[in-house]
Amino acid sequence: MKILGLETSCDETAAAIVESGTKVLANSVATSSNMHAKTGGIIPEIAARQQIKSILPVISDVLIQASGEKESGVQKWAHKNIDAIAVTVGPGLIGSLLVGIETAKTLGFVWNKKLIGVNHLVGHIYANWLTAEKLPRFPALALVVSGGHTDLVFIKSHGDIKWIGGTRDDAAGEAFDKTARLLNLPYPGGPAIAQEAEKFLKKNSGALTLFPRPMVDDATYDWSFSGLKTAVLTKTKGRKIGQEQFAAEVQEAIVDSLVIKTLRAVDKFKPKSFLLAGGVAANKRLRDKFESEIQKQKPAVDFRVPEFKYCTDNAAYIAACAFFNTSGTPWQDLTANPNLPITDQT
Ligand code: KG4
Ligand code: ZN
Repeated sequence: MKILGLETSCDETAAAIVESGTKVLANSVATSSNMHAKTGGIIPEIAARQQIKSILPVISDVLIQASGEKESGVQKWAHKNIDAIAVTVGPGLIGSLLVGIETAKTLGFVWNKKLIGVNHLVGHIYANWLTAEKLPRFPALALVVSGGHTDLVFIKSHGDIKWIGGTRDDAAGEAFDKTARLLNLPYPGGPAIAQEAEKFLKKNSGALTLFPRPMVDDATYDWSFSGLKTAVLTKTKGRKIGQEQFAAEVQEAIVDSLVIKTLRAVDKFKPKSFLLAGGVAANKRLRDKFESEIQKQKPAVDFRVPEFKYCTDNAAYIAACAFFNTSGTPWQDLTANPNLPITDQT
């Protein structure tokens, strides 16, 4: 079964064609991130306008890639070979979401294809199914760390998701983005902090304990990252240490908080697999720490993290998620929900 996936929840416009939920036949991502870099954050109106410009080019791109046809031949190929169209319905920016949804509805109507609405956050988790030789086993514990969300969930089987914990204020990615801004690093802050931190870590191996790890001692599986901004502001005022060290310290505080609490949940819920997902999962320090701590403390648990290119927003995981959760939606019922919670299967 070949699914065309579309993802337009934020500032990436993406299309992909995935076979049987695991094999990526084509993948294309356009981003307006460089436009938001000028303002230090996303302007929803600009993101939505760019979505409109990019959606048809990325769809055309994946149809050409998957079919091997010239552009003139892709309509006929799609009509014959695409089995369903999957699209992100939320959470996300309303103007951006609507571009993907209305495009999916139009193509579904014209090609007479089944439409499958996908929850963006659940979609992120399915990046762990892409290119996997052995599929992740259930029950699984999954941590989704993105620019707008930090959610820890227990998954019994496809579609059976229970929320266990999450951030009470800023998301993990937001903590990277906002502290990067305070350190005069460019948007998006995650990759910028990671790059600076890497330089420091190459030269130094001492403990990084400048910033607190909030809420690590309480009994919930919740996080709080908003205090990090104030801590960074206070500590950078004197500026006795360099930017690279600040970046390494910020990264370590976020990584430690995530790893410590998640491992406690692994201990309590005893999953067969632990799945890391979301844009922040592209952080090398986070991937390495999870891998080594799980190996040390819970070696029986299968640790999965997507390939780097499938961590940040793309449509391949949207198509994968749709394959394993295939209940279709009549085009009349497909609507955007900017506040869709991770437990809601659209
Ligand atoms: O999942 P994503 O692409 O978009 C949302 O759904 O939000 O996540 C974007 C977030 C941004 O906050 C970005 O700074 C963060 O992921 N990010 C990273 C890295 N790459 C992206 N954070 C830390 N280290 C990275 N290497
Ligand atoms: Zn995302």
